[in-house]
Amino acid sequence: MNEGSPIIVALDVGTAAEAVALATTLAPHVGGFKVGIGLLSGPGPGIVGALARIGPVLADAKIHDIPSQAAAAAFRLGEYGARWVTAHATGGREMLEAVAEALEKGSSGTAGVLGETVLTSLDGAALASIGLGDRPGKLVARLARVCAAAGIEGVVCAAKELGDVVQVAGGLTRVATGIRPDGPLESDDQRRIASPVEALARGADLLVVGRPITGAADPVAAAAALAALVA
Ligand code: C5P
Repeated sequence: MNEGSPIIVALDVGTAAEAVALATTLAPHVGGFKVGIGLLSGPGPGIVGALARIGPVLADAKIHDIPSQAAAAAFRLGEYGARWVTAHATGGREMLEAVAEALEKGSSGTAGVLGETVLTSLDGAALASIGLGDRPGKLVARLARVCAAAGIEGVVCAAKELGDVVQVAGGLTRVATGIRPDGPLESDDQRRIASPVEALARGADLLVVGRPITGAADPVAAAAALAALVA
């Protein structure tokens, strides 16, 4: 692994074999691997264990349920060796506390919960349509306060809202998504995007990067270039 690297590569591929193969080749350039609900629902949570043998794993389960069920999921992901597990901050303080407690119980190493704030695929209009008309930064700040009150490790948000998190909950680890390296790259389904350099300048501790690496013609070269950019 490239220990200390802020880059967490999102392995949004179809099979466990592909994920492990990609992780093995990308390992020298990244600080960790993220698996999302696609892999967790298909190949299943065993993929967390397989990847944890290579490097730190962020299990992006985006848990959101009543506290007892949310805790059950976190406990299992802890057993599989997840270094981080995500849970929606909108689940509330009690749910986040239950998730953190269960993750710690399930895990045999270091593990922490990251609170998902506002998906980076949602723009102002989409947020307004679900009754969340406030500026995204205001929503993120409100949810970051809940995460801090619950005592969890960090939050996930768009780079543009990192400043809001720094202001209200400076002790949380800040994970930015919607990262697009400078250049004529597609934003795909992301709406609130930023470059890696901008995200770090705004206070990100970790950068989740998926398609700019995994969708590149040469993923290893793309990861190496990104690693050099943020070193
Ligand atoms: O390919 P791309 O870099 O857009 O991938 C971003 C990854 O980050 C995806 O796996 C997605 O699930 C995740 N994510 C996100 N926005 C959040 C939280 C997680 O895009 N707020």
